Amino acid sequence: MNSGPEGLRRQPRRTSSLFTAPPLAQQIALVSGANRGLGLEVVRQLAGTGMAVLLGSRNLTLGERTAQQLRRDGADVTAIQLDVTDQAGIEVAARYIENTYGRLDVLINNAGAYYDMGELPSSIDLDIVRGALETNLFGAWRLCEALLPLMRPFGFGRIVNVSSGCGSSAVEGECCPAYRVSKAALNTYTRTLAAELGGSGILVNAVCPGWTHTDMGGTGGRPVKESAQGVVWAACLPPKSSTTGGFFRDCQPIDW
Ligand SMILES: NC(=O)c1ccc[n+]([C@@H]2O[C@H](COP(=O)([O-])OP(=O)(O)OC[C@H]3O[C@@H](n4cnc5c(N)ncnc54)[C@H](OP(=O)(O)O)[C@@H]3O)[C@@H](O)[C@H]2O)c1
Repeated sequence: MNSGPEGLRRQPRRTSSLFTAPPLAQQIALVSGANRGLGLEVVRQLAGTGMAVLLGSRNLTLGERTAQQLRRDGADVTAIQLDVTDQAGIEVAARYIENTYGRLDVLINNAGAYYDMGELPSSIDLDIVRGALETNLFGAWRLCEALLPLMRPFGFGRIVNVSSGCGSSAVEGECCPAYRVSKAALNTYTRTLAAELGGSGILVNAVCPGWTHTDMGGTGGRPVKESAQGVVWAACLPPKSSTTGGFFRDCQPIDW
């Protein structure tokens, strides 16, 4: 785990009192699956608000290389090793965040995989379905369980589950069955967690970034810069916001 570059010290422990929403420049954020694609752009944009951002990457060497580039532009970004299917690794990451920062303000569950185009719900190997659920549903779930203890005591938090319109029950179709079911389940998890956390100061929302030109999205989608904005919007909801338990694209509600 990187200890941070010379001259870029850790965020100081916050001076404001408990239950006071911290200014963006004093917030700590974690983005999973952030070594490339949308996750990387979300890190860049969050860091642009002044937040200290942890860039979660399965491959720490790749993550560190990416974080170094962002630091050259003045961003406070630190790479941490994070495979969202690895419970023990998640616990190590949570301890690191607790020991280093004492809390977490923003969690972006962005890591995603198993876009199983070409599979059919009647014939897909269930191991693929299990894999999709492990990453796209349980990955986010594990991180929420591990990191909520770093939000709850402070009465403030923003959790963004990066979902997909593909998981909406309003969208019909047979393609990508594993991915679709995993994102639909992530949407339901978002609603149940938001309901549990009502009144806690922790807002939980699902965001579809829209079709985006990344390794997963392929060519033809829009640029990451544009798609990441809706994710960052949900991460930066203002202190008195009551926006929770929603599903959004480009900052507008969409159907579940
Ligand atoms: N692109 C689109 O059109 C689109 C549309 C709707 C929703 N989304 C959602 O947006 C999110 C980001 O997608 P993207 O387009 O940026 O995809 P991407 O370019 O394929 O990047 C996926 C990221 O997730 C990471 N990842 C995969 N499995 C992981 C695991 N077990 N633990 C930790 N990290 C893991 C990858 O890490 P490695 O480099 O180690 O593989 C990579 O950093 C996903 O949740 C996706 O479902 C994308």
